[in-house]
Amino acid sequence: MGLFDRKPIAAADDSGHGMRRTLGAGDLVMLAIGAVIGAGIFSSLGTAAAGETLADGTIVRYGAGPALVLSFILLGAVCGLAALCYAELAAMIPQAGSAYAYSYATLGEIVAWVVGWALILEYAVGNVAVAIGWAGYFNALLSGFGIDLPGWLTHGYWNVKASGDPAVRALLDTAPHLGPIPILVNLPAFGVVVAITLLLLRGVKESARANNIMVVIKLLVLTLFVVVGGMHIDPANYKPFAPNGFRGIHQGAAIVFFAYIGFDAISTAAEETKNPQKNLPIGILGGLAVCTLIYVIVGLVATGLVPYEQLRSSDPLAKALSIAGLDTASWIVAAGAVVSMSAVLLVFQYGQPRIFYAMARDGLLPPFAAKLHPKTRTPHVTTIITGVAVALGALVADDAATYDLTNIGTLAAFAVVCIGVLVLRIREPDRHRPFRVPFVWAVTLIGAGACVFVMQGLPSSAWKAFGVWMLIGLTLYFAYGYRHSVLRRNGAPDATK
Ligand code: ALA
Repeated sequence: MGLFDRKPIAAADDSGHGMRRTLGAGDLVMLAIGAVIGAGIFSSLGTAAAGETLADGTIVRYGAGPALVLSFILLGAVCGLAALCYAELAAMIPQAGSAYAYSYATLGEIVAWVVGWALILEYAVGNVAVAIGWAGYFNALLSGFGIDLPGWLTHGYWNVKASGDPAVRALLDTAPHLGPIPILVNLPAFGVVVAITLLLLRGVKESARANNIMVVIKLLVLTLFVVVGGMHIDPANYKPFAPNGFRGIHQGAAIVFFAYIGFDAISTAAEETKNPQKNLPIGILGGLAVCTLIYVIVGLVATGLVPYEQLRSSDPLAKALSIAGLDTASWIVAAGAVVSMSAVLLVFQYGQPRIFYAMARDGLLPPFAAKLHPKTRTPHVTTIITGVAVALGALVADDAATYDLTNIGTLAAFAVVCIGVLVLRIREPDRHRPFRVPFVWAVTLIGAGACVFVMQGLPSSAWKAFGVWMLIGLTLYFAYGYRHSVLRRNGAPDATK
């Protein structure tokens, strides 16, 4: 059997031995909003609008300026194409594992492995970035109450190493040392990941309920930002509209793409969704449409409220309000950001274990990762492994590098999903498709091309890191997955049945 063998598309498992089906379309739209609106809009929006320049004057990326709105519209279109493709595959292949499972059924095992490996960037590495963003807002809120944690407990080692801020770099000397090593850890970021992991271990329905509450809060807070901020817009701030031309819009889009990640995450809930053929497309496309609308409006208000350069901050929405003299609203938005990012953390900590579970069930990862808890029917082993790995990453990592790496990995997976739809249409034209991508040639090819185009707006450091990550992944595949693959060993599609 070869590297490109495809896993047969199995019927959904309704035997009662798999996970429980408890989620409806409404839950899925809420899960999507929970996953999507977070660190991207609350934190990376500032860098996307204002750009990034090192202390020595080197320009890392150009900002979009008020034309950030166009970056959001561009991304909404790109993600819309990918979302259509996700919807077709998710409805046809309603299995945990998302893009990984689709690739296995459409393009074959080695492509599936590469996509599964890239999805770790989206889910686990992405959550490291979100946890660090969460901690930034959390520390600012604590500070408002007069509680200031020492710098060595709020900055991870690699974050300090990468910082251009002399005050932050001084921590390398002033932090307590363990022999020659400075102790530099982001304790709040670590703590929130541990708390979310414990919540997930209680089971899916409970987690979905917590998510719904957090989604309502994040929508209220963004409404507050738009209404209060909207009353203080100065039209002069919209000029110049696109200070760095299309280059700024493109590079701005490449960073703020992070804000869109997550509409696809709900496809990992396929095995826990009621009537997935109908509900998954509604959840994916509905969630994306709502989020795009919100981003365009928030982008318009943020760049109209203050000159775009002033958005260069880790808390740009709260800062824009406070510059405009709206301190109470600023505080409420900061508190809302903490809640919003908690919801993102929840959905991604939910999704990653299910991808590991799907990969282990196929024999590409060791069997212990495919265990379900006898009572809650959740993949508790991979939930714990993911929790520990992300918590440790959040403890020491640099957020900027993790944003870039997350974006490049996710865009690569999106592109493969688009191609997968086309390939399966050609290979199996008669297969029943509960949801069909319209104009399939145009949507899939433009969709894949548009993902690669957005990737090109990322700095070279992201491409290098992505290359190294993929090399590690392929090495692991040939060392373990290639030899243990269930499909290759006995041709059976599923190890647990
Ligand atoms: N889209 C998610 C966020 O912005 C990952 O936090």
